[in-house]
Amino acid sequence: MNILVTGGAGYIGSITCVRLIEAGFTPIIFDNFCNSKRTVIDRIERITGKRPLLIEGDIRDRTLLDQTLAQHKIDAVIHFAGLKAVGESVAKPLAYYENNVGGTFTLLQALEAAGVRTLIFSSSATVYGDPASVPILEDFPTGATNPYGRTKLMTEEVLSDIVHANPAWSVTLLRYFNPVGAHPSGLMGEDPQGIPNNLMPLIAQVAVGRREKLTVFGNDYPTPDGTGMRDYIHVMDLADGHIAALRHAIGKPGTHIFNLGTGRGQSVLGMLTAFERACGRPLAHTIAARRPGDVAACWADTAKAERELGWTAKLSLEDMCADTWRWQSSNPNGYAD
Ligand code: NAD
Ligand code: WQD
Repeated sequence: MNILVTGGAGYIGSITCVRLIEAGFTPIIFDNFCNSKRTVIDRIERITGKRPLLIEGDIRDRTLLDQTLAQHKIDAVIHFAGLKAVGESVAKPLAYYENNVGGTFTLLQALEAAGVRTLIFSSSATVYGDPASVPILEDFPTGATNPYGRTKLMTEEVLSDIVHANPAWSVTLLRYFNPVGAHPSGLMGEDPQGIPNNLMPLIAQVAVGRREKLTVFGNDYPTPDGTGMRDYIHVMDLADGHIAALRHAIGKPGTHIFNLGTGRGQSVLGMLTAFERACGRPLAHTIAARRPGDVAACWADTAKAERELGWTAKLSLEDMCADTWRWQSSNPNGYAD
């Protein structure tokens, strides 16, 4: 089966392409490289022995999408392409709505015209806003606290409306919790451009000497050690969640919503300590005020994914840290240009 993978050169998309190839699917990557490097394609080939087809382009380019869909018989789409930095979305909301929401509109129009109606969408736990309790179930109320989150929520709503209007569509909304880790080979991982936004790449850059210390945002939360708790999930498990969702979606119309997490929360200090074990040395940190907009605790109830997809996260916190460290220490500056 041919799977069009928008954003397939990015962190989660590229590792999902490796797993797709290993599972016997044929990914076709569609990416404009606004937040990724071309060398990632070489790494996919090195790991799998197969070079995925690459279409370099923007999901807002309807003509290129139409050409792509005419040239290749696409069975399903995994739609990763999007901008993802929360802070940047506050500063540049229009860019986020245009790329994430507008880009998805163009993609959907092209898919509808081509009769491709199976889509897996990269959503986020951010759509739960500030949850009333943890663990979070898929039917919890949704809400957004920043423009990035609103682009995910708006896209989820548009996709649900499309299924409502045309029940031939099969749409799967995958709400990722906190993806971390790297391919166990150390050849592929997260390569943030500029200052990272997320905890794990920041810790990894301290460990490799690119940053002096980690700033812990708040130690006065109502959690066991006072620091924020999140559901960190290994990107390999996340990639496998997409394969499970794909197999589930094919031939099953409707809107399907799944949390992809481990079902466990880990604190900021817990992550730091686990990474110190992985890299074998203490890592400097300081405590600062809470980061505005942060919630105290956020982790998934994963029973629905386990029941309906037959999928659970298998890799441990030690795996997440060891694999990130292998990737970071052997590629201190990320992918080459
Ligand atoms: P990423 O930035 O590494 O990958 C996104 C890819 O999409 C990049 O290769 C980028 O070049 C491409 N892209 C962006 N806009 C495009 C456009 N208009 N046309 C074509 N390609 C475009 O991000 P990621 O961490 O791999 O995330 C993938 C998806 O998962 C995103 O939609 C993101 O919002 C979502 N998500 C990520 C996280 C996370 O913490 N990493 C959590 C929840 C959801
Ligand atoms: C994790 C924890 C911070 C940096 C974000 C997006 C969300 C989703 C995943 C895309 C928190 C603490 C962080 C630092 C710290 N992305 N922290 N010092 O905020 O859970 O979620 O990424 O969909 O939408 O909002 O992840 O990695 O930024 O933070 O103490 O320098 O680490 O306060 O408790 P977050 P994160």
